[in-house]
Amino acid sequence: MTDKKDVLAGAGPNTRLAHVGNDPAEFHGFVNPPVVHASTVLFPNAATMEKRAQKYSYGTRGTPTTDALCAAIDELEGSAGTILVPSGLAAVSVPFLAFLSAGDHALVVDSVYSPTRHFCDTMLTRLGVTVEYYDPSVGAGIASLMKPNTKLVHLEAPGSNTFEMQDVRAIADAVHKGGAVVTLDNTWATPLYFRPLDFGVDISIHAATKYPSGHSDILMGTVSANAAHWRQLWDGNFALGICGSPDDSYQILRGLRTMGVRLERHQESAMRLAEWLEGRDDVASVLHPGLPSFPGHALWKRDFKGASGIFSIVLDGGDPGRFKAKAHAFLDALKIFGLGYSWGGFESLAVHVNLSDRRICKAPENGPVVRLQIGLEDMADLRADIERGLAAARAV
Ligand SMILES: Cc1ncc(COP(=O)(O)O)c(C=O)c1O
Repeated sequence: MTDKKDVLAGAGPNTRLAHVGNDPAEFHGFVNPPVVHASTVLFPNAATMEKRAQKYSYGTRGTPTTDALCAAIDELEGSAGTILVPSGLAAVSVPFLAFLSAGDHALVVDSVYSPTRHFCDTMLTRLGVTVEYYDPSVGAGIASLMKPNTKLVHLEAPGSNTFEMQDVRAIADAVHKGGAVVTLDNTWATPLYFRPLDFGVDISIHAATKYPSGHSDILMGTVSANAAHWRQLWDGNFALGICGSPDDSYQILRGLRTMGVRLERHQESAMRLAEWLEGRDDVASVLHPGLPSFPGHALWKRDFKGASGIFSIVLDGGDPGRFKAKAHAFLDALKIFGLGYSWGGFESLAVHVNLSDRRICKAPENGPVVRLQIGLEDMADLRADIERGLAAARAV
């Protein structure tokens, strides 16, 4: 007889999202898993206690709630195991700590999420790891940057704020020849639109804070490993004592159920707005991998199944001395877009992007970069709001 698991493995993304994770039969048929708050778990006798010979032994090592979320993420990522951590930034720092030691060298893409760079340049450097930044367009050329002590290569595709694409397969293959682990921050695409492990990546990282949460109210990170790297990731996290809270895990699992339909809407609205903005004289360029004019478009089309709802515009800048004033005028004129960091929620957001920490992928010279997170609002209202921003920027 065909198992439900086998049927789901071949099902469409929304069907899988509706059923992955917990098994209702394990909890009296309730559709959702219980939220188990736990530190202590009791054992029936001393021998069981000594050997920890039961499924659950202590809260930090997993509960039915966190297991349900980890199982769902493993299904989506195709991973051997997933750990939960309290933020997306921790989802980067924990695997770095699990796989790097003093004296090691790490290569990190220059278009990386800025706080990841901060972690590398401060704590990781203090612990004796040398970090070098590389051009996202490096491809197989990463081989020439590898040293005998290169132990980890980190990708983020597309890159933060400027959305540079990377040839993930070419990089992973070259890095593996040098014996290093490949990590990738996959937050932008979610496992629905890109599955890093299918492209040779060893560790897939997510700020579940974004689309899996979807409601701007939960912070959480997930780190998923292939079979070869799962044990070391688990050991590193166990040593650090980091774990996901049951309430947050429940909310992320809840968010996953609707993530597919939300993403379709984010994708559609963002794509239409990007196309419209590209045709305007007051916008110098639109940084969105789904646009044929974007330099990384061919890679996106080849490897990704879709685009999420965040991209940037470069306002037509004029005098560089006025870039900041123009960006601020744009932001201050917005009524629907909120001025806030983060993304992936139901509401639209805008931010003036600071690229001053870049070493290779420098800020565009033709105008200020404004990042737009396109929420679930109605298109006409979002467009009118952006029109308000552009009119204000033009007036500067
Ligand atoms: C690409 C990327 N990775 C990781 C993070 C960190 O997520 P969190 O805010 O949960 O720490 C962010 C947050 O903006 C992000 O954009």
